[in-house]
Amino acid sequence: MIEDGYEQLKLEIENCRKCDLWRGTKHRVIGEGPLDSRIMLVGLGPGYYENIEGRPFVGAAGKFLNNLLTLAGLERGKLYITNVIKCYLPDNKATDEQVKTCSHYLDRQIDMLKPAVLVALGSVAAMYLLGKYGLTYSSMSRLHGKIFKVEKPGRSMLIAVMYHPASALYNPSMKLLLEKDWRKLGEILSKIPV
Ligand code: URA
Repeated sequence: MIEDGYEQLKLEIENCRKCDLWRGTKHRVIGEGPLDSRIMLVGLGPGYYENIEGRPFVGAAGKFLNNLLTLAGLERGKLYITNVIKCYLPDNKATDEQVKTCSHYLDRQIDMLKPAVLVALGSVAAMYLLGKYGLTYSSMSRLHGKIFKVEKPGRSMLIAVMYHPASALYNPSMKLLLEKDWRKLGEILSKIPV
């Protein structure tokens, strides 16, 4: 049963002390959404409000993400949303070591849920997910809005690379670019059976 494995994984993440991030963490953010969702969104890691609520993307970036999802015709409640890092990232920055230490939880989430589409939100998620499937990460300015096909034995999967929603909060000129990318992603997803 996927639920049993998921509960076990949650327990492990809740008790994880593999790096020092647990010390400043109130709530680990494991992920949310239906376990049979075909689309998995992957961000960087919990910020201030996510750490308080224990849910992904509930702060300002999350509010903008909700708008982007609406533009793409996607319903947040039907998606599974998680992050590369599960503990509070006070400065919204993760070291390579932290990514290496924490990402095996994301690997297990992907193995369990078997999404048809992975949406990487931002450079850390894009670098990790493309690398995991043998694709080359160059830069977000080159890759944003692109969708890659991954063929794995027994199943194929898409990886969409998107700018992190927070990038539009720091840099309002990015807003239109993000909106354009999400509209395009929505159109593509509406034409394929996921
Ligand atoms: N930024 C992220 O990358 N993830 C969150 O959950 C919230 C903000």
